[in-house]
Amino acid sequence: MSRFNKLLVVLLVAALQSCLLEAAAVDLERATSSSDTTKDWWQVAQFYQIYPRSFKDSDGDGIGDLQGIISKLDHLKDIGVTATWLSPIFASPMADFGYDISDFFDIQPEYGTLDDFDQLIAAANERGLKIILDFVPNHSSDENIWFKKSVKREKGYEDYYVWHDGYLNASTGVREPPSNWLQAFRGSAWEWNDERQQYYLHQFAVKQPDLNYRNPAVVAQMKRVLTFWLNRGVAGFRIDAVPWCFEVVPDAEGRYPDEPLSGYTDDPDDSSYLKHIYTQDQPETVDMVYQWRTLLDDYKRIHGGDTRVLMVETYSSLDYVMQFYGNRTTKGAQIPFNFQFIVGGNGDKNNTLLNATGFVKIINSWLSQMPAGQTANWVMGNHDQRRVGSRYGEHRIDTMNMLQMFLPGVSVTYQGEELGMTDLDISWADTRDPAACNSNESIYEQFTRDPARTPFQWSSEANAGFSTNSSTWLPINPNYVTVNVETETAADSSHLKLYKQLVTLRQTRTLQYGSTRYAAVNDNVVAIKRSLSGETSYVLVANVLDTSVSAVDVATVLYATGSYRITLANPEANAAVGSNVTLSSLALEPYATLILESV
Ligand code: GLC
Ligand code: MG
Repeated sequence: MSRFNKLLVVLLVAALQSCLLEAAAVDLERATSSSDTTKDWWQVAQFYQIYPRSFKDSDGDGIGDLQGIISKLDHLKDIGVTATWLSPIFASPMADFGYDISDFFDIQPEYGTLDDFDQLIAAANERGLKIILDFVPNHSSDENIWFKKSVKREKGYEDYYVWHDGYLNASTGVREPPSNWLQAFRGSAWEWNDERQQYYLHQFAVKQPDLNYRNPAVVAQMKRVLTFWLNRGVAGFRIDAVPWCFEVVPDAEGRYPDEPLSGYTDDPDDSSYLKHIYTQDQPETVDMVYQWRTLLDDYKRIHGGDTRVLMVETYSSLDYVMQFYGNRTTKGAQIPFNFQFIVGGNGDKNNTLLNATGFVKIINSWLSQMPAGQTANWVMGNHDQRRVGSRYGEHRIDTMNMLQMFLPGVSVTYQGEELGMTDLDISWADTRDPAACNSNESIYEQFTRDPARTPFQWSSEANAGFSTNSSTWLPINPNYVTVNVETETAADSSHLKLYKQLVTLRQTRTLQYGSTRYAAVNDNVVAIKRSLSGETSYVLVANVLDTSVSAVDVATVLYATGSYRITLANPEANAAVGSNVTLSSLALEPYATLILESV
């Protein structure tokens, strides 16, 4: 289980338990009503996450780059993507593959130049695609000029980062860190800096010092970063590692409190050893996101153009996550990422066993707690998590895409999920992720995020058509021979083909504006109905387990009267598209998922 999941499972088990579902179906008319007929672009967008290092290499160095992305925009267009967020492309020593930024105003040379970026924006605009950048506010690289100046206590930069003397242990004579705080990548969150003779805080790797959000100069500087990229034409930002932005204020003696033990692990280096009550999820962080939203809205008011969006990455408890949507007086992020399909359920590995009630709990956890009038979103995976097929089982790859596209609101696809790419086990020697490299050969597999970051599989040619180099920065999954864009496009049926059909279906008025009703009919079967008056109704039925079922009545729980016929089916279903079904008595093969339409 990754470090994120470990601590999050903890938070989320509590959240899920608090919304234990009754067997009855859940109706969600309030979130979407049929009078709601206008939506902003982002509410009906098809979002896609690009991990630039692994998307497409244009210059043969084995590393993806901006020209590579430009050369593949037609693929995105072809599969119906309308907006894409890019993991960081800024100058970086790559200690955390771009999440350690040495210059927030420039492009990483391996990826290209500012000119390439401008070309990317222009090429995307031509195709009606929007580009969203990853904004990494919590920390910079230790190679950032701001940090170097702060180390030297240069005027204006003294408090740019979180510095502390620590404490001299009188009995040992050894200097000790200011508190017991742990970084996300194992070990103390405090690192001694010889030159400044103080500790600095780093919630992530040693090379990722935390910026000090209690310093107004830092707040202003990071707003400059946003404006810089808005001026270059981006449609918004995904905000990285939000819960960490603020830490608690030290007491009158300048002391930071120790965090209490969580009791979840006895490994004292593991971040989940502590309950992060002083270093995460502080109220000031929510306000900071509101300020960024105001900046975006002001930008639009002054410069025109479409709404700019914020997507917030936070694996916190749902009551905290929901605050990012805003409150009665202040707007927040349009898309606080819904990670329930990642952190919910039985925990990552065991999601292969998740039953229908588990699925419905996950769906309900978000929809029942989302504030009225907001837009839901569904994130099945990203570059920090195991791939969907490896987490939910390969037989459920299509089912997960079908659910994601069928549920109301925004959907966000991580690159490769449209192909059904799966995790690649990577040897210790080939391991690159700091979350794993900071551990050791016998335990790194619990922490590594490399398996979901392998190069994108374009074709069955050498290196999956990703690069012409003899080697690539991470190895390529050998399943590329069959799992790739070219082969899946040519096949009669494939994950990719179904994905494209789902994107098209998602554009129907019913799926965009319709109300939603969902239920676990029994252990096996999840049933969801989307309906809108005057329009075709759709029903999704998924047998999420490896046993077959017969004579299942989904009509009663869904209040679905009239006749239905099959419009889409996964290959696990032995079903003929176009044929009629009896909703009150359905038979479903193991892992069969059908989407039905009213006739
Ligand atoms: C986010 C990113 C992750 C990165 C971390 C630190 O969680 O998604 O990849 O390591 O923040 O920036
Ligand atoms: Mg390259």
